[in-house]
Amino acid sequence: MRTFATGVCVASTYRDTPDGRRHDAVTVNSLGSISLDPPLVCLSFRRDSVFLDDLLVSGHWAVSILPAGARETARRLAGPRAARAAHVAELPARPGDRSGALVLAGASWLECGLRDRFDLGDHTLVIGHVLAAGHDGRSPALVFVHGRYHTIADPYAAIVDVSGAGHWGEAL
Ligand SMILES: Cc1cc2nc3c(=O)[nH]c(=O)nc-3n(C[C@H](O)[C@H](O)[C@H](O)COP(=O)(O)O)c2cc1C
Repeated sequence: MRTFATGVCVASTYRDTPDGRRHDAVTVNSLGSISLDPPLVCLSFRRDSVFLDDLLVSGHWAVSILPAGARETARRLAGPRAARAAHVAELPARPGDRSGALVLAGASWLECGLRDRFDLGDHTLVIGHVLAAGHDGRSPALVFVHGRYHTIADPYAAIVDVSGAGHWGEAL
């Protein structure tokens, strides 16, 4: 799987505590598109992930698809929760209207409600019903392959707007 190039996302959720709402955000690359009608997506988390715990309790999350310039954000949010906390507080982000989870500025994003979960091996697959989405197609995507972050070299392929050409864009 190290040779399978993926996008890089920040998943976010929260936990309501007596002291108020505590947001959390982690770097993920397991985002999958499942269904268009209804719109469903999935993420996969280690079963013992503390982020997953919060997501299952809140029943809501958001996922922001990172642009090439957000490499440092991806690095900072890939550590344990104690190391992430200060970075989460400083994120250029706002709580999404539909999920309450943080949505990053300058990224395309999806807000989701928990539709289903499947414990599979040492991971849990969470299925999200997409409640809202926004598109920022101006920047080339951040890409993860061979354990490193990359930027797509062909800027035209990354920024051309193919939305008018249908779901598969120029590939058809
Ligand atoms: C590029 C990249 C992709 C990642 N994707 C996932 C993922 O899809 N699922 C996951 O559980 N952790 C993933 N991680 C690890 C998380 O960023 C984070 O380290 C982990 O969720 C922390 O565990 P915690 O929730 O117990 O704090 C990824 C890390 C990197 C650098």
